[in-house]
Amino acid sequence: MEAIVQEIQDLKKQRQAIILAHYYQWPEVQDVADIVGDSLELAKAAARTEAEVIVLCGVHFMAESAALLAPEKTVLLPESSAGCPMADMVGEEQLVQWKEAHPQAKVVAYVNTSAVVKALSDVCCTSANAVQVVASLPKEEKVLFLPDRNLGAYVAAQTGRELELWPGWCNTHAKVRMGDLQAAKKAYPQALVLAHPECRPEVLAAADQITSTAGMIRFAENSTAEEFLIVTEEGVLHRLQQACPEKKFYLATSKLFCPNMKKTSLRSVRAALKNMKPAVAVTPAVRQLALQSLQRMLELS
Ligand code: 13P
Ligand code: SF4
Repeated sequence: MEAIVQEIQDLKKQRQAIILAHYYQWPEVQDVADIVGDSLELAKAAARTEAEVIVLCGVHFMAESAALLAPEKTVLLPESSAGCPMADMVGEEQLVQWKEAHPQAKVVAYVNTSAVVKALSDVCCTSANAVQVVASLPKEEKVLFLPDRNLGAYVAAQTGRELELWPGWCNTHAKVRMGDLQAAKKAYPQALVLAHPECRPEVLAAADQITSTAGMIRFAENSTAEEFLIVTEEGVLHRLQQACPEKKFYLATSKLFCPNMKKTSLRSVRAALKNMKPAVAVTPAVRQLALQSLQRMLELS
């Protein structure tokens, strides 16, 4: 075992820590984690862990969600500047104004949002349960969906609901254009196309399956197909290949790289455990409201 991996394991024991990593992390970071998952699975793992310390290898909103769900634990985000540009596309003031313009509406917030935005929302969702969450709201209720317009449009089509969409997007998934997908399909004509709902609508329309990262893994495991074209951040290929070593996975384009997700390294994980920082916490007033939105989501999924 590499020395740094051993050091991380030793520190983890000493600190009574658990390491949670998102599927978009570097393979070596995924391999050192106790649990690798999508944002829903990581939130659930944070809520149930008995560890004293949670090291969240992902981006800021994921660490905040862990802090909301496990307030008595120390939550460490190894790279404090690892944010989600899409989550930053909606701020408190803008959301207050949007709500004022639609006073009767319910607000559904993708978990890719700050705790303050979650606190101003009625219920959260992830890409794995967004359809289920919106479908659970009474039909006569108007719904404001934020911040991802692509996920929102997909959910609207799936539920037959008219949603008001916030004009946000993911810088990584939106980079994939039809030309990229057409070229990849030409190179791998046998492959089934699995796309994340954050992709552009025209890319989603050309996909065989639209699903979250965890959904892609389940789909590939249960499918009789042998080859898959993956249209989400490249990190997920590591887990896909581990789960289905006999199948072939191709990334639709090398543009599918999230620079924020890739900030975390083994060195930063070791430093976080050694120094017990950077820690992420949420003020009690924000927590009380944001937690309600997150818990409503967890009750539904
Ligand atoms: P998942 O909800 O599939 O984990 O995706 C999170 C994310 O950041 C997508 O870009
Ligand atoms: Fe945010 Fe997109 Fe990166 Fe996910 S892939 S963390 S949505 S920028």
